[in-house]
Formats: sequence, structure tokens, C-alpha cells
Amino acid sequence: EKGAYEFFMLKEIDEQPAVIRTLQQKYINEDGSLQIEDDLKNAIDGADRLYIVAAGTSYHAGLVGKSLFEKLAGIPTEVHIASEFGYNPPLLSEKPFFIFLTQSGETADSREVLDKVNQWGYKSLTITNVPNSTLSREANYTMLLHAGPEIAVASTKAYTAQMTAEAILAKSLGMHKRTQAAADFELGSELTKVANAIQSLVDQKDVAEKMAQKYLSTSRNAFYIGRGLDYQTAIEAALKLKEVSYVQTEGFAAGELKHGTISLIEKGTPVIAIITDEKTAGLTRSNEQEVISRGANVINVVSENLATKEDQIILPKVHELLTPLAAIIPAQLLAYYTSKERGYDVDKPRNLAKSVTVE
Ligand code: F6R
Repeated sequence: EKGAYEFFMLKEIDEQPAVIRTLQQKYINEDGSLQIEDDLKNAIDGADRLYIVAAGTSYHAGLVGKSLFEKLAGIPTEVHIASEFGYNPPLLSEKPFFIFLTQSGETADSREVLDKVNQWGYKSLTITNVPNSTLSREANYTMLLHAGPEIAVASTKAYTAQMTAEAILAKSLGMHKRTQAAADFELGSELTKVANAIQSLVDQKDVAEKMAQKYLSTSRNAFYIGRGLDYQTAIEAALKLKEVSYVQTEGFAAGELKHGTISLIEKGTPVIAIITDEKTAGLTRSNEQEVISRGANVINVVSENLATKEDQIILPKVHELLTPLAAIIPAQLLAYYTSKERGYDVDKPRNLAKSVTVE
């Protein structure tokens, strides 16, 4: 039920701190150990490479997962768009393990790949919000997102739940493999910080609302830029804005601006920069100067430890591997308010269905 909310999308954005706390309760024991079946850990332990397969927003969550699995568990990870993998599978490693990320568990593009994986005889895990969904039933293992039903077509809480689940799994695999990075990563307290950060961001909705009114209410196009994990956030942020507001939005690696896209910048073009990585913050800021000098309106979404007085949206500091969980929130809010401002049905964007069961 929507209750006092005009649209489910905002309700679901607001639910994200609670979703993270639920995942903590479901997967983290009192003593800090994790509830991941031994069978699953052993199956992945025998693999030399992870293949994450997904579509849309779930694919974007997979891109973030790659960093988590590689950094915490030391397992090389590839991320594939399901529809591309289906008919043009890449050359696989000797011992692949497959992870299907899917909110609905019914996406046809992903099902097509899982059918092949089963024919080939490789093991797989489905991470999904829907128990007993097709992809859950047809994979060897299932990990549930416990995000509660997501009604708005644009995925918000399922995306943050997917990244949280990946962090839990990566930590668990890293502990199993005894990596130093996993031992040093205090998952429980880091997730508590993330939940608090999201809470403080959703409590300041009016900031995003004003930005949407000022910069996005009439613009034809918009850009999100970032580097590293901020780049992964940028492409998800762009998908969110375009799907609910119909503003043509591109998300790309900030360093790529000068290699072509900068030709699209005109007076008044909104460029939203995501900056959470200390190593590359200065570089992204200089990319911004290049677009500012061509007339762009820049909105900065910056971690508090890197922020200046001029930055418009400040993100509470969270662990460097978990920054997408905080950085996506203002982007979800910008998408929501831009759509609302333009008078659209935020929950049901034209041409889209919640679960895409055709290839
Ligand atoms: C975008 C969105 C879609 C889905 C995609 C995959 O907001 O929701 O891009 O992420 O259709 O769906 P699932 O995760 O159900 O496989």
C-alpha cells in the first residue's frame, strides 16, 4: 500500500535503510559470522572465475559486484548483459561459476543464459527478490534479497539490496578463502553506516527536489559522470533518470568526456558528477571545469570528506567499496522529482513493464 505516498517509487526509495537492516538481520549472525550455505561457498571455492549475468539495473548492480568479489574474495569476475551473453557467449574459464542477478527472477534474457549454463553443466546461484521464481528454481542455489515487493517499474530498493547481498556474499567467500581484505572489512558496522547515510539522504529530499526543478525540469538531455565505482553509479543514475523522466541521459566515465561526448555540451546542459573516490576526485573536478567552460550546469554529488562549500549534494562517508549504495540515492530522488515535475506517472513509465518476459 502506498499510504501517504503519491507514488510507490518514493516509498521504495524511503524503504532502503530498512531493507539494508533486514539483510543484516537475515545474513549476519550475532558473532559476525555469515549465513551463507557451506555448499554454496564450496561450489564457488572450486571456481576460477565468476560470471555475473543480468539485465538493466541488475546488470549495473553486477558491475558493482565485480569490485566486491575481486577485492574482498580475490576471485576474477566478469559481468555480462544477459541478452548479449545468450547468443554470443564469451570464451569461458576452465571452472566458471555463474551468478544471476534478477529482482523478479523471471527475466527472459537471463533465463535463456541459465538454460545454456544448465546444459553445459556449470553451477549457478540466483540472487533474487522473489522466492520460487523461475531463475531461482532453475539455478543450483538461491540467495534472497528480502526487499519486499517492488511495485514501481523503476528499480530502487532491489538495486541497493542486490549490492548489499553481493557485499555479504563477497565477505563470506573472502572469509572462506581467508583473504586479508575480507578480514579487514567490518561488514556489519559498514552496512549500519550505509543505512544511516541513506537515511540522512532521504531525509533531505528537498535538496534533490530543488535541483530537479532548477536544472532538469525542461532540459532535453543530461549527463552523469564518474570514475571507478562512481562510473558504475553514473550509468545506473542515468538509466533511472531517463526511464522515468524521458530526459535523454547518458552515464559515462568522466575521462571519456574529452574523447567525444563533450561535443554535446551546450549552454545549460545538466552534468551531474559523482565524486566519492579520493584518488580520482581531482581528475573528475577538472573534467567538470571543461564542461563548465562550455556552459554546462554542474551538480556535484560528493562524499563529505572530499566536499567543498560549493558542492550541492553531500554524501555521508561510507566504506570505499560501498559508495554506490549512498551515491545512488540522490540520483533516484532526482529521477523521481524530475518525472513528477514534468507531470508523468512516475511508477509506470511509458513502454516499460516491471518484469520483461520476452527476449
Ligand atoms: C530499471 C529496471 C530494469 C530491470 C531489468 C531486469 O529500473 O528495473 O532495468 O532491472 O529489466 O529485471 P530483473 O532484475 O527482474 O531481472
